Amino acid sequence: MDTETVILVIGANGQLGSVLTKSLQQKFGLERVIASDLRSIDDFHGIFEVIDATNRNKIEEVVIRYKVTQIYHLAAILSAKGEENPLQTWDINMKTFFNVLEVSRLNQVDKVFFPSSIAVFGEEAPLNDTPNNAYLNPSTVYGISKAAGENWAQYYFLKYGLDVRSIRYPGVIGYQSLPGGGTTDYAVDIYHKAVLEEEFSCFLNEDATLPMIFMDDAVRATLELMDAPKESVKLRTSYNIAGISFSPAEVVAEIRKLYPDFKVIYEPDFRQNIAESWPKSMDDSAARNDWGWKPQFDLESITETMIQKLKEKYKKGSKNREVLMF
Ligand code: SER
Repeated sequence: MDTETVILVIGANGQLGSVLTKSLQQKFGLERVIASDLRSIDDFHGIFEVIDATNRNKIEEVVIRYKVTQIYHLAAILSAKGEENPLQTWDINMKTFFNVLEVSRLNQVDKVFFPSSIAVFGEEAPLNDTPNNAYLNPSTVYGISKAAGENWAQYYFLKYGLDVRSIRYPGVIGYQSLPGGGTTDYAVDIYHKAVLEEEFSCFLNEDATLPMIFMDDAVRATLELMDAPKESVKLRTSYNIAGISFSPAEVVAEIRKLYPDFKVIYEPDFRQNIAESWPKSMDDSAARNDWGWKPQFDLESITETMIQKLKEKYKKGSKNREVLMF
């Protein structure tokens, strides 16, 4: 292991950030990972810095103080939440990324990770097995910011040699943390309702198939991409990765194998339109060929794991969902 690696995670309290931070701590050691977010967390195990990523000076001060060599920039406003205030979403998503790119360029940061999303695709892309290089006409401001961010990542690589790497995540499903403001969030919430034996109101139609990935696969993909030799990372915009694809009806059928009485009502809202503009499945052959990507979890194993882990958590904690957050 590179003994000099020092990692800054921006957005460490989020759905993916909280789990990824723990994996990075395990891999590199507590003293080599600086978690950061807008607010600190009580009882956080490790180093935590409060950073508002719209403040470039604050990021730079932390990068210099800890001699940071890698930044994982996970802070963003997601697809559904982002539509409430499009211009503010654009400002925040772009400004924070530009700050990371500039601080990295000016302070010799070795590697940057930028999460992109299936939200970069729109009506012009094939719905099934969407290729990596499909035409991008995103329908949400979140998707527009991610498509622009991918191009800026490539620009900094080509112009300045900054080693920015990126993945287009499908909807991420995990028991460890809760998502916030996304169109794929239903696929996490549904498991909580099942375990609590409550009725679930689904904001998508029963046949709204979307690409999804289990948290363990998503974290492993991120670490594998960041570990790959520089010359293997041939795409400098972003890599499609696929886990599995399913619709609400399919996940309900899987849950009912364990909870036969599980009740669901479908009340699609504006998020259904967003879902319809996204791929149903992704062609991830570039990631497979370039750096060996391969998912491990299917819908059955995701469902078994989600239900088992959430049962344990709810047994230990109260019924308050917030206690499930790190
Ligand atoms: N999970 C995200 C969302 O739904 C997509 O990247 O917004």
